Amino acid sequence: KGYKPEQPIYFSHKIHAGEQKIDCQLCHSSAKYGKVSEIPSMNVCMNCHRTISEYNAEHYMEPGKDKAFYDGEIQKIYAATGWDSQKQQYTGKTQPVEWTRIHNMPDFVYFNHAQHVVAGEQAIINSFNKKNPNNKIDVVCKACHGKIDTMNVVQMANDFTMGWCIECHRTTEVDMNNGYNKEYFKNLHEKLKKQYPKDGGKITVDAIGGIECGKCHY
Ligand code: HEC
Ligand code: HEC
Ligand code: HEC
Ligand code: HEC
Ligand code: HEC
Repeated sequence: KGYKPEQPIYFSHKIHAGEQKIDCQLCHSSAKYGKVSEIPSMNVCMNCHRTISEYNAEHYMEPGKDKAFYDGEIQKIYAATGWDSQKQQYTGKTQPVEWTRIHNMPDFVYFNHAQHVVAGEQAIINSFNKKNPNNKIDVVCKACHGKIDTMNVVQMANDFTMGWCIECHRTTEVDMNNGYNKEYFKNLHEKLKKQYPKDGGKITVDAIGGIECGKCHY
């Protein structure tokens, strides 16, 4: 928790996801489909930055930073993609941007974004907001990653230990009516309700296998 490395381009989530309200999944588009959320390729940046070569936002300026600083950071996108902004063409000379990875589970852990971002979406948002009535979230990602849209520099918002996973599985009631669970647990649902009568028949993630070792470990 709190790990906050410097990145090769000063990319601010507060400016993109906060001020500009760009959806997380425009850039982290694979979170819906599988294990990994992925860091966007430079082509994704160029969809906008081919035309946005300067920082003009008068409404937000981080203390200690100025326009020249942000403009210089945008130039790094052009250096990486080989974009000649004068001639408006690619030179073919590219160089990879070496982002420092922040979250990184050990190899023996299986974590799947889609399971949480799609199947678990409503359950996670509802449960988080019930536990944190004064600090509600609108986007599922924030339950685990914190309010990324307020961070200029991303930092780990939780400790990402096994206890942290289990704690949430024990206390988050699954949404038995989402498309996936409705199909998968058609017959089991009634049985589970009887088997797990605590909290008046509420079914939390542990009841559907969420604390079985093999579900999270290879
Ligand atoms: C315009 C593109 C863009 C948008 C929109 C965006 N991100 Fe990112 N995200 C990035 C880039 C680039 C990085 C890598 C650099 C960094 O860590 O800041 C990153 C890094 C991250 C990381 C850390 C990855 C690691 O290394 O572990 C998390 C978590 C994350 N984003 C979550 C979010 C969430 C949640 C939202 C929406 C609130 C969001 N992002 C919106 C581009 C984006
Ligand atoms: C959907 C459009 C969009 C995408 C995609 C996008 N940006 Fe931006 N970016 C913006 C806007 C809008 C601004 C603010 C410009 C302004 O207000 O003048 C900005 C500002 C910036 C700045 C200066 C402020 C800061 O965050 O430091 C940098 C650097 C930057 N972008 C890098 C990136 C990188 C790297 C990517 C790809 C990972 C990316 N952007 C993807 C729209 C986008
Ligand atoms: C249930 C908790 C949880 C939720 C919800 C969640 N993440 Fe993650 N995220 C993680 C964990 C755990 C990792 C580390 C995965 C690993 O190392 O295998 C991670 C890693 C990442 C990374 C680094 C690349 C990767 O996939 O390893 C990015 C980027 C990211 N998350 C973005 C998002 C975005 C965007 C959302 C919402 C669409 C989101 N996350 C929702 C827990 C979560
Ligand atoms: C914020 C709450 C939350 C956190 C934190 C969380 N999960 Fe989950 N997880 C869920 C929910 C909700 C589901 C059930 C989704 C559904 O309805 O199928 C789930 C389901 C799963 C499943 C599927 C279980 C099954 O039997 O189908 C696995 C595997 C899993 N999570 C792994 C992890 C790992 C590994 C971590 C920690 C790195 C983690 N989760 C952290 C909420 C969470
Ligand atoms: C909900 C997901 C989840 C379940 C279920 C789970 N684990 Fe883990 N486990 C993790 C995560 C995530 C880590 C890595 C935490 C870290 O790196 O700090 C981990 C780490 C470990 C480690 C390594 C500890 C260390 O100090 O390095 C062992 C051993 C382990 N788990 C055993 C088990 C056993 C035995 C069970 C079943 C009783 C189990 N796990 C069930 C998510 C889970």
